[in-house]
Amino acid sequence: MKILLGVTGGIAAYKAAELARLLVKAGHSVRCCLTDAGSRFITPLTLATLTGEPCFGANPDYHEWRPNPKVEHVDLAKWADLVAVVPATADIMGKTANGLADDLLSTILLAARGKILWAPAMNQAMWAHPAVQANVTRLQGFGHAFVNPVEGLLACGDEGAGKLADVSEIFEAIQTLLAPRIPILADRHILITAGPTREDLDPVRTLTNRSTGSMGVELARAFRNAGVRVHLVLGGDLKGPSGVEVVRVRSAQDMLEACQALWPDMDGLVAAAAVADQRPEHCAPEKVKKQEGPETLVLVRTPDILATLASQKKAGQWVIGFAAESEHHLAHAQSKLEKKGLDAILVNDISGDRGFGFQANTLTPITKTGPHPSLGPAPKGELAQAVVAWWGQRLSAGS
Ligand SMILES: Cc1cc2nc3c(=O)[nH]c(=O)nc-3n(C[C@H](O)[C@H](O)[C@H](O)COP(=O)(O)O)c2cc1C
Repeated sequence: MKILLGVTGGIAAYKAAELARLLVKAGHSVRCCLTDAGSRFITPLTLATLTGEPCFGANPDYHEWRPNPKVEHVDLAKWADLVAVVPATADIMGKTANGLADDLLSTILLAARGKILWAPAMNQAMWAHPAVQANVTRLQGFGHAFVNPVEGLLACGDEGAGKLADVSEIFEAIQTLLAPRIPILADRHILITAGPTREDLDPVRTLTNRSTGSMGVELARAFRNAGVRVHLVLGGDLKGPSGVEVVRVRSAQDMLEACQALWPDMDGLVAAAAVADQRPEHCAPEKVKKQEGPETLVLVRTPDILATLASQKKAGQWVIGFAAESEHHLAHAQSKLEKKGLDAILVNDISGDRGFGFQANTLTPITKTGPHPSLGPAPKGELAQAVVAWWGQRLSAGS
């Protein structure tokens, strides 16, 4: 996709370079437009080098509004699928909210036909000022998207809400805005479980497994990008993606309780978590001391979250499970599908070292009619998109 990155005159302007790099790496065509004030914080050369495109706007080599046979502001506005202003000053937002256009970026912003995203950054008192907030509300009223500033220590030494959001959050917001929505999934509420669970033996020791949760987190991202309202119940240490409701849990029992609270209001469930099948019978309140001779650990079964939720399924709700199998994977998965009453199961062949943590992976979908062509091998992000597209097609076909 084609992204015009507007960079304005704030101390966070240097972070736009990292965002430009991430966007180019993700396969987008990126052009930057620097305001005059922005060019005092970051050079056009940095942005042009990272994007492989000329940097428009203020530029000591050819200045604003360089002699050009084309009408630059209209051309750039038409070219862009999305204009992202990062960082956005109070000034540029004020101009656009009020229809002012006195330089290249502000003119592009009025001429733009694609989506517009703002990531403001400024002193916390400026951000809280009613004039700035009124401008934000006005821009939102035009359908513009925002990644709001976060709390933190600001360049001026003050602390408060005004710091540019993490570049990774802004990147994700751009990816979400540009991703095609899948109409049958859009605005649906979906519950996704991801990550390992941890079953404690005492305050310092735990039983867990090698899952990182990356497949489930990528699925959350891919469903979110398709327009889904994702509720992610997450074990382990991975960060939940932005734009997703995350409930963090530790044990299988915690995960079950979190899921049961959400499930009645959901349209579907994707159970990608690697839930421990057993837990220690007792969790000692204090650290267990070393003992002489063999020690015995008694394990008991944890609740079967997938089977419990599938058994409580209401009309219209659907359930997709995962099976990580190291042998006879298709046969085992087919019997799990039938036994638990699932609509589909995605089989992950984990023989050898495949599946866990490794980026490239393959999933074979199985439904009541049997196995479907495998998805992948692909990095987990791409695989997750393939899963969402496959499921969207099946729902649309009513099968
Ligand atoms: C050192 C310095 C830091 C600044 N940081 C910010 C900032 O973070 N956010 C902001 O809205 N304005 C900031 N300003 C003020 C803007 O640079 C000023 O309003 C300028 O006119 C913005 O122009 P532009 O919107 O065309 O880039 C800063 C000014 C200076 C001198």
